[in-house]
Amino acid sequence: MSQYVARPNNLEAFWMPFTANRQFKQTPRMFVAAKDMHYTTDDGRQVLDGTAGLWCCNAGHGRPKIVEAVQKQVGELDYAPAFQLGHPKVFELASALVEITPPGMNHAFFTNSGSESVETALKMAIAYHRVKGEGSRTRLIGRERGYHGVNFGGISVGGIVSNRKMFGTLLGGVDHLPHTHDIERNAFTRGLPEHGAELAEDLERIVALHDASTIAAVIVEPMAGSTGVLMPPVGYLKRLREICDKHGILLIFDEVITGFGRLGGAFSSDAFGVVPDIMTTAKGLTSGVIPMGAVFVRDDIHDAFMTGPEHLIEFFHGYTYSGNPVACAAALGTLETYREEELLTRATELAPYWEDALHSLKGLPHVIDIRNYGLIGAIELEPIAGEPTKRAFTAFLKAFEKNLLIRTTGDIIALSPPLIISKAQIDELFDVLKDVLRTLD
Ligand SMILES: Cc1ncc(COP(=O)(O)O)c(C=O)c1O
Repeated sequence: MSQYVARPNNLEAFWMPFTANRQFKQTPRMFVAAKDMHYTTDDGRQVLDGTAGLWCCNAGHGRPKIVEAVQKQVGELDYAPAFQLGHPKVFELASALVEITPPGMNHAFFTNSGSESVETALKMAIAYHRVKGEGSRTRLIGRERGYHGVNFGGISVGGIVSNRKMFGTLLGGVDHLPHTHDIERNAFTRGLPEHGAELAEDLERIVALHDASTIAAVIVEPMAGSTGVLMPPVGYLKRLREICDKHGILLIFDEVITGFGRLGGAFSSDAFGVVPDIMTTAKGLTSGVIPMGAVFVRDDIHDAFMTGPEHLIEFFHGYTYSGNPVACAAALGTLETYREEELLTRATELAPYWEDALHSLKGLPHVIDIRNYGLIGAIELEPIAGEPTKRAFTAFLKAFEKNLLIRTTGDIIALSPPLIISKAQIDELFDVLKDVLRTLD
């Protein structure tokens, strides 16, 4: 048995997020500790983390530099008001971050989550056009199957039906590009799919329909994670960039998952070579330790706001915890860990090994597609007729019993281990997964 806490005897009060609450409460799965690549369960098992928590613990767990930074900061300065006042760490962090953002993107706005980063970016885009004298540009273009968090702006531009259908009319003035998932043409592609760049042309149709003068921004995930790991087809992002430029539309990349090393560079532009105007981030910014997000903007977007009388607030937006000192300390400790261990490029180094191990699952029962890039992988399963999601959820439960944490979305298994994973642990992960897949009904 573990030396940690006993299981609480009442699980009723906590309404769990994105969870099958009744199923969980019948057979709870509890973590009580974590170190490096492993979680410890309340019954004392070591579970290999195949998902970096929720795509966030990129440096692994219990990393000394982050732990020390947080412990020290909380004793020194626990909180400073975020509006009209500052503290040194938040400036230090912003400066450190813009060292690794694409050239010309030298400003950071802090939030507390990916969802808040998205809302912030959407508001910035609309407000930017207004301060530039183009107040008619208010329309936002998202993409089918996109995930941009759970707030109203994010679910409006997002394209995951179950996240949208319960919540009324959402934001007006939103349109969507088609998604890029095409198993028929691209199944079992290693790296970026060959087919689908032409889907970016749909943006021209949307522009023709609404007129460019009404459109503020296009927002996409450079690699769509939460919908089940959809890689951008070769040439697709470049074409989106060109069409946005042609029509004066801002391009927002939601890098909440792709930021901080997942694709083998600091951000997706390092991997895919396409630079957006605004980037939303969170998760890997603090390696999941303290909630924090950041939005990065091109200098001229920031500068456009810096006009008018100097005693006036330039952008009426912000959060009580924007740039919280403890979160900043966690982020600085995380950046130091990434730097010292060269983690932001480690996915590139491991990618060939990861890819071979992942694709060795081809041919196992129910596997209809496998996709990968950097240290991300997905295995798509044939759904059980009339019971979508059940097969993958069963795989998740079986893997957990076998001491492996995977994530499922729909009937897709998504894998995104901490960037510190070893080759031996990659072997272990896929050996367990093979066992699980062989026993699925
Ligand atoms: C691309 C993307 N945007 C936004 C979010 C929302 O982040 P959060 O859950 O921190 O609000 C996520 C979360 O997975 C995400 O993947």
